[in-house]
Amino acid sequence: MSSAPLPPGPPSPWWGLLHVRDMARDFLGFMAAQQRQYGDVVLLRVPRYLNILLFHPDHVRDALVHSHDALIRWERGAEVFAEAHGQSVLVVEGEAWKQRRKLMQPGFSPRRVEAFVPLMTSACEEALQAWPAQAAFELDFEAAMTALTMDVILRSLFSSRSGEESRAAAAAVHDISIEGQSEMFWPASLPDWLPWKGRKRRALRTLDGLIRGHVAARAGRQEGEDLLAMLMQLGLTGETLRDECMTTFLAGHETSATALTWWAWCMAAHPEAQERAQAELAPLQGRTPVLADMATLPWLTQTIKEALRLYPPAPALLSRRALETFEVGGYQVPRGALLLLAPGLIQRDARWFPEPEAFRPERFAPDAPEIPRGSWMPFGAGPRVCLGQHFAMTEITLVAAMLLQRFRLAPAPGAAPPRPTLNITLRPATPLRLSLARR
Ligand code: HEM
Repeated sequence: MSSAPLPPGPPSPWWGLLHVRDMARDFLGFMAAQQRQYGDVVLLRVPRYLNILLFHPDHVRDALVHSHDALIRWERGAEVFAEAHGQSVLVVEGEAWKQRRKLMQPGFSPRRVEAFVPLMTSACEEALQAWPAQAAFELDFEAAMTALTMDVILRSLFSSRSGEESRAAAAAVHDISIEGQSEMFWPASLPDWLPWKGRKRRALRTLDGLIRGHVAARAGRQEGEDLLAMLMQLGLTGETLRDECMTTFLAGHETSATALTWWAWCMAAHPEAQERAQAELAPLQGRTPVLADMATLPWLTQTIKEALRLYPPAPALLSRRALETFEVGGYQVPRGALLLLAPGLIQRDARWFPEPEAFRPERFAPDAPEIPRGSWMPFGAGPRVCLGQHFAMTEITLVAAMLLQRFRLAPAPGAAPPRPTLNITLRPATPLRLSLARR
């Protein structure tokens, strides 16, 4: 038992129902208001359980790293994810998770990711070739990045080259993402046969068919250099193979598309930072980058890290249920409480990032003052940290490099700066239009 006190927090009239409503309306805005008023550890009473909000990097690490064994993912979030992902490493818990993670981890190591680089760059090259041939044009950039990262993941996962398949899958992912965000705040999933759920039902069917089709087509053959071959070589079969392919597919492209979209906006809005990144690419003389080139692009990497700080694609994904009572920051986290952590807020805290709203890639320079551990965590932290973080950083860096080799990015004339909105991932509220000029 802990003798530490419970954290401070707001009163909860109506059993906390109003908090649930406010969280569903504007999750990050609501969380930020609690931190302003009550500090780094906040208790929020909602129907049926206690929420504890953590805002300090040390406390976040205490929870995710040191108290990892006392935590599971928020059951409701996992339930919504399970509808598409099945019982993949993203969803399962306890011993099952430990075993699966151990099995999968080597497949996503930096060395293994290297093998996927040619698949990534060839998919990117083909996608960029299909863009308008004019010297200058405007693009709905998020749609373009979603299509591009979809091509990259389908090529990396299945060696698939079908543009038709990419388009159908992109539409399905979009529908599921919007539905999923609102379902998270319902106490349980309503049955999928309800008439207004037709769109989601169709979307789930489309994705399931796509994944099963590719897995079936490969049945029994372990050859190839793609992720499916890698997962089969790790020993995955049947439903497990289907579920891990689905998670790799879903977790592996939408977040990357979002990251690239925000990075491109940061570049468009900061031409001097963009020119510096472009200058770094000059020694490549226009050739397709390979993995070894990444070490020669420190500024480009810094711009990506800074974009991931300002706009983490999964700004509020980290919620955990406490299976045991423990302490954080001198306060008690009682058994059954739900911990809510928001990288989107921690990464904009002026204590760790002076002038937090400013785009400053210098923060990540090797000789810059050290950034406290746990304050930059777009991929999470602890044993459950993003499995695909090397894959993602490699993909984003290569695609960013290939974009800058070909184009100068600028905000579309007359377009307002994009406003972020949360649909599981953090996306621009209205389509982000950028002007592209060929270099
Ligand atoms: C910019 C791109 C990405 C971002 C920002 C991102 C972020 C995250 C975050 C925040 C988590 C949750 C961590 C936690 O709960 O502690 C996560 C989990 C996960 N991600 Fe990513 N991710 C990205 C790309 C990818 C890619 C490319 C893949 C696969 C190819 C991937 C696969 C996974 C998996 C499998 C998990 C679950 C791990 C587990 O529960 O053990 N992610 N990611």
